[in-house]
Amino acid sequence: MTVEPAAATWSAYWEGMGHRHIFVVEARDHVARLRREVAPRPTDRVLDFGCGFGHVVELLAPSVAGVGFWDAAAGMRRATAERTASLGTVGPVDLGGPVPESALGSFDLVLANSVVQYMTADELAGWMPRWRSLLVPEGRIVLSDIPVPGASAAVEILGMLRFAARHGFLLRAVRDGVREARRYSRSRGSADLRRWRPEDLVRSAAAHGLHAQVLPANLTHRSGRFSVVLTPA
Ligand SMILES: C[S@@+](CC[C@H](N)C(=O)[O-])C[C@H]1O[C@@H](n2cnc3c(N)ncnc32)[C@H](O)[C@@H]1O
Repeated sequence: MTVEPAAATWSAYWEGMGHRHIFVVEARDHVARLRREVAPRPTDRVLDFGCGFGHVVELLAPSVAGVGFWDAAAGMRRATAERTASLGTVGPVDLGGPVPESALGSFDLVLANSVVQYMTADELAGWMPRWRSLLVPEGRIVLSDIPVPGASAAVEILGMLRFAARHGFLLRAVRDGVREARRYSRSRGSADLRRWRPEDLVRSAAAHGLHAQVLPANLTHRSGRFSVVLTPA
């Protein structure tokens, strides 16, 4: 697969990302919503695609059969491996090339939280059959926290500050946010988040033999975004 300029820019952005407190708090909030709405089973083998610093992997691992992880950024894969080193049911899955034979048909649940917005439409179309090939026949793919066209940046920032205030770290969020906003505008170049209308994502999934169910509410605190569960049609 060729790396398009936007994807290359985002990958540099994520390679340079430092850890922030909000990632832990957001992961706790996301996993609570995931448990309520998607209900991973104790027997499930889960793949966290775009695992970031590995907080979701760490939180989910004790309640499911196993968790594999992959992230395009090597630094994120390293951070997740370090964070979960003592967890015997967690391990990396190398998706940097062809899907490893051992991973085919081996996951009940593939998660990609806050990830597909960093892919071009072609890149996402390329991942759909690959994710599908990782699933057991009744498996599910959960894409969450997907921004929609026309969403206001100001509303998202306000929402983030409210979330931080509710969880007792407003000042820290403002300080970290200002620092990050400077790095974001410097390092992302011309790349912008890829936004999806839910109906377009449903159509793209159908073209890859996946049935898409848009959930009534997003699986993160960002209420203006949406989440979708894909199952083999
Ligand atoms: C906003 S973070 C979300 C991290 C994690 N999913 C969570 O919920 O905490 C986005 C992550 O997606 C990863 N990512 C972006 N594009 C990707 C791609 N094409 N393939 C795999 N990972 C990707 C980034 O490196 C980053 O770690």
